[in-house]
Amino acid sequence: MTLDSSARLEVDPLIEDPATRIIVCCGAGGVGKTTTAAALGVRAAERGRKVVVLTIDPARRLAQSMGIDSLDNTPRRVEGIEGDGQLHAMMLDMKRTFDEIVEAHADGERARAILGNPFYQSLSAGFAGTQEYMAMEKLGQLRARDEWDLIVVDTPPSRSALDFLDAPKRLGSFLDGKFIKLLMTPAKMGGRAGMKFLNVGMSMMTGTLGKLLGGQLLRDVQTFVAAMDTMFGGFRTRADATYRLLQAPGTAFLVVAAPERDALREAAYFVERLAAEDMPLAGLVLNRVHGSAAARLSAERALAAAENLDEAGIVDQGPGKTGVRDTAAVSPESPSAGRSPEAPPAADGTSEVVAEVPEASAEQQSATAAGQTTQQMTAGLLRLHAERMQVLAREQRTRDRFTALHPEVAVVEVPALPGDVHDLTGLRTIGDRLATGGSARAGAA
Ligand SMILES: Nc1ncnc2c1ncn2[C@@H]1O[C@H](COP(=O)(O)OP(=O)(O)OP(=O)(O)O)[C@@H](O)[C@H]1O
Ligand SMILES: [Mg+2]
Repeated sequence: MTLDSSARLEVDPLIEDPATRIIVCCGAGGVGKTTTAAALGVRAAERGRKVVVLTIDPARRLAQSMGIDSLDNTPRRVEGIEGDGQLHAMMLDMKRTFDEIVEAHADGERARAILGNPFYQSLSAGFAGTQEYMAMEKLGQLRARDEWDLIVVDTPPSRSALDFLDAPKRLGSFLDGKFIKLLMTPAKMGGRAGMKFLNVGMSMMTGTLGKLLGGQLLRDVQTFVAAMDTMFGGFRTRADATYRLLQAPGTAFLVVAAPERDALREAAYFVERLAAEDMPLAGLVLNRVHGSAAARLSAERALAAAENLDEAGIVDQGPGKTGVRDTAAVSPESPSAGRSPEAPPAADGTSEVVAEVPEASAEQQSATAAGQTTQQMTAGLLRLHAERMQVLAREQRTRDRFTALHPEVAVVEVPALPGDVHDLTGLRTIGDRLATGGSARAGAA
């Protein structure tokens, strides 16, 4: 099976279509989600659209080049975009987003108490799923403002692409969890009855949890949870709304994956999950695909040629030297290196008798040595080429397995560039490859 067996993902029609309002770049950790999101943002903006890219944890140099190296949680216009479009970029600062919500929903002293609360600090900094949830929250906010033609969403560096979709449920089950329920019970009750419950609840907890956490901390936790309930008010309703947004026709998911077995297996799960959730998949971006400009020379032929060269190297050497082929070619100390380099420098013209033979021999020697070095280097290069061709073949097989499983998924290949992608030029190159795709194998680094 080859590239033709699945449709090619057409990126330009997707990003140019005014009906496309949200593109979500998903995928496992480190595959190139942030890079793809930023590259799509640049390309869409340079095709005239007003775009915002919501990035999460971008590499520092990339953030700097887009002017978003400070975490301020608001979209900033990116300089250097050509044409009439606009690119704005922002970096999701989860902790800051959390803090802002607390500040907005609690009065000064209470807010300070919550912000300084260790329970809050660890939760806001690292509760599994919060980052994913906050990304969705932010997406909801950006979409609600209706200020952008296109919102490109990067997703957090989760182990699994599925984490993004599971986050609201996970956060929901945390909020619905027994521990939280217990804490919430008194806080939710109003009036005197509430006070009674509060006291019962508090004394009960002071007896057990209080010993563990300390009374003050426990009150802090409770305050925090109560505040959180308000902050996320109608949490499930909002999560449902975001889910509906993700199912809407203006949304397109792109799954980014490396051409490796585990990565594509994971991508296959994600594709199935999107289908089960009725979320519109635009296609698969196969990122960092290897290619070769000399793909016509197969690994087998390259290896055979390398072996031939090695054998020729052995034959070319003087009799009795076959065992020291490698050193003979490069080492002046080898027995075949002759004496000429060490020949005494003749002050008054070299004695013909002494010099004649060794000089001829030295030329021969160096010619032979040079020839052998070239041969060895050629053989080495051929072996490198063979290795590269084996990588290509493995990537192709991996891709074919995915295509056999999901022939309906459009695919585009983006070659592995020689260096990191950390500026607009690099992002444009990725954008070009995303749009022209498919030819990665012929011209990649
Ligand atoms: N096609 C490519 N060629 C060369 N380098 C690439 C390519 N795509 C991505 N990179 C580089 O790979 C690294 C990881 O990319 P990126 O940060 O986009 O991945 P990610 O999926 O967002 O990672 P995380 O899951 O950690 O958020 C970056 O240094 C980026 O410059
Ligand atoms: Mg990333």
